[in-house]
Amino acid sequence: MSPELAQEATGRPTGDGTSLVHAVNVTKSFYGNQVLKGIDLDVHEGEVVCLLGPSGSGKTTFLRCINQLETINGGRIWVDGDLMGYEDRGGTLHRLADKKIAAQRREIGMVFQRFNLFPHMTALENVAEAPVHVKGVDKKTARAEARELLERVGLGERCDHYPAQLSGGQQQRVAIARALAMKPKLMLFDEPTSALDPELVGEVLEVMRELAEGGMTMIVVTHEIAFARDVADRVVFMDGGVVVEQGPPREVIAKPQHERTRAFLRRILAEQHESPEPSPDAINE
Ligand SMILES: Nc1ncnc2c1ncn2[C@@H]1O[C@H](COP(=O)(O)OP(=O)(O)OP(=O)(O)O)[C@@H](O)[C@H]1O
Ligand SMILES: [Mg+2]
Repeated sequence: MSPELAQEATGRPTGDGTSLVHAVNVTKSFYGNQVLKGIDLDVHEGEVVCLLGPSGSGKTTFLRCINQLETINGGRIWVDGDLMGYEDRGGTLHRLADKKIAAQRREIGMVFQRFNLFPHMTALENVAEAPVHVKGVDKKTARAEARELLERVGLGERCDHYPAQLSGGQQQRVAIARALAMKPKLMLFDEPTSALDPELVGEVLEVMRELAEGGMTMIVVTHEIAFARDVADRVVFMDGGVVVEQGPPREVIAKPQHERTRAFLRRILAEQHESPEPSPDAINE
């Protein structure tokens, strides 16, 4: 279906008709400093997109714009056909009421570098809290679902532990379960493993891999190149507020087209003592 047809059929633009996320020419400035310089990105349902890029390139800002934690200065973002944060009245955008924005945000799960669990609540209570207080799910159902989710992230035995009694990796898995408890259409991850001790990274990535295999649509900002290579359907490399290149991991990671991508990957892979596949030379071709 052409974009025009997709729009005509639903009244709501969805890129090529199958995009869950459809971002067009998104710009964002902080105090005159333009951080996003026109980002276009489509993410299809069930797709896993890894967002790579150097520090300050705008990755977090872009995720926060999708989720309306930041307002955008230009462009538009649709999630599942909903224009995020705004209503389009005859071509003019009007900011939605906070309540409506909160409702849009509930459809999107976000996992941050720091897990920010409530310290005075057990793992189970942390996961059950939003469904009860935000969605009005009855307590018994929410607790049963929370238990299932904690089992799914390998923490069935830790339901009654408080965050302080859990390792960083376990806390991050609780945070993932907490986001999933709202039954989101889309999951955004912002460097979910970068605050963890190296030996705890794998268990969190494993949960994310399972989530991806289960068909969740995910945008993952990460420096874990091996994860991106193995799990992503597409890798998007950002630098200086623009998308420099994107494509299947085998292309972007193994044979990047742009010098900026090559330089970034060289640096990251050297830090991670990893060699790109299929051979280190591929990157210099
Ligand atoms: N609230 C803010 N106020 C002012 N400037 C900001 C704000 N948030 C981000 N910036 C600036 O926007 C730019 C992009 O930041 P952003 O956090 O999106 O980058 P990033 O790609 O996520 O980097 P990192 O890999 O370090 O997390 C940076 O120059 C940052 O200083
Ligand atoms: Mg960031």
